[in-house]
Amino acid sequence: MQLDQVKAVISGGASGLGHAVATHLIQHGARVCLLDVNAERGAQAAQALGPLAQFLRTDVGSEEEVTAHLARAAEAMGGLNAAVSCAGILGAGRVLGKDGPMPLTTFARTIGVNLIGSFNLTKAAANLMQHNAAGEDGERGAIVLTASIAAYEGQIGQAAYAASKGGVVGMTLPMAREFARIGVRVMTIAPGVFHTPMVDGMPPQVYDSLCAQVPYPPRLGQPQEFAETVAFILGNRYLNGSVIRLDGAIRLQPK
Ligand SMILES: NC(=O)c1ccc[n+]([C@@H]2O[C@H](COP(=O)([O-])OP(=O)(O)OC[C@H]3O[C@@H](n4cnc5c(N)ncnc54)[C@H](O)[C@@H]3O)[C@@H](O)[C@H]2O)c1
Repeated sequence: MQLDQVKAVISGGASGLGHAVATHLIQHGARVCLLDVNAERGAQAAQALGPLAQFLRTDVGSEEEVTAHLARAAEAMGGLNAAVSCAGILGAGRVLGKDGPMPLTTFARTIGVNLIGSFNLTKAAANLMQHNAAGEDGERGAIVLTASIAAYEGQIGQAAYAASKGGVVGMTLPMAREFARIGVRVMTIAPGVFHTPMVDGMPPQVYDSLCAQVPYPPRLGQPQEFAETVAFILGNRYLNGSVIRLDGAIRLQPK
């Protein structure tokens, strides 16, 4: 689809990768609705992006909220043909930590936001998109999910995060296969290490070691590079049902 025809919801759109996607799409004439739990940052971001953007405070873990807010977003934008899932949390911690075994709530919350949140967004978006008028090749919409290379090479302390992202990788193909009937594509990007507020929270030694591990280019990814990949996926109908690693060839070490 052409970017100026895109009407997209973007979860996690108040910060980092999601915000970069929103900015890039708006620059190309798309309409966007940011969905995020951070009400203050979300409202500010939408205002700064201008009249083509709006914000709905949404917890992606809530089935009711996601369903209702996607309907509201579609109504406000005059339709919905793209959904980009960028909401996520790190959920870091060892299974057997210094203070004892990881509380199950930590594991469940990470799965709840990263995996269940991605599923919630996908099903609500596809449910609306199936009623769109078919475009070229019968296309009715495209959904882009965000996993992580931790889905493949989770480090010590990433059991919950890697499990959640592995789930996102795993559901990409079956959903793409299922939605073929309605002309809705599903793609996933597995980013390496990108410079976003999520990474800003890391201890400096972890940050430096991550930069040093990227073969080429030896730096963290820029959110704009992620946004351009999302735009490329939206524009290229032959991309479907697979995962693109966007990582400068980094392969994470055990720690
Ligand atoms: N930054 C990286 O290096 C990197 C690498 C691999 C994967 N990722 C993934 O990319 C995505 C975006 O990460 P980022 O670096 O931009 O992080 P970020 O922290 O800058 O942004 C994440 C956003 O998600 C929002 N969010 C958190 N929980 C939510 C919920 N329940 N409902 C709605 N919104 C919620 C936060 O408020 C925040 O605005 C995440 O899924 C993350 O796991 C990031």
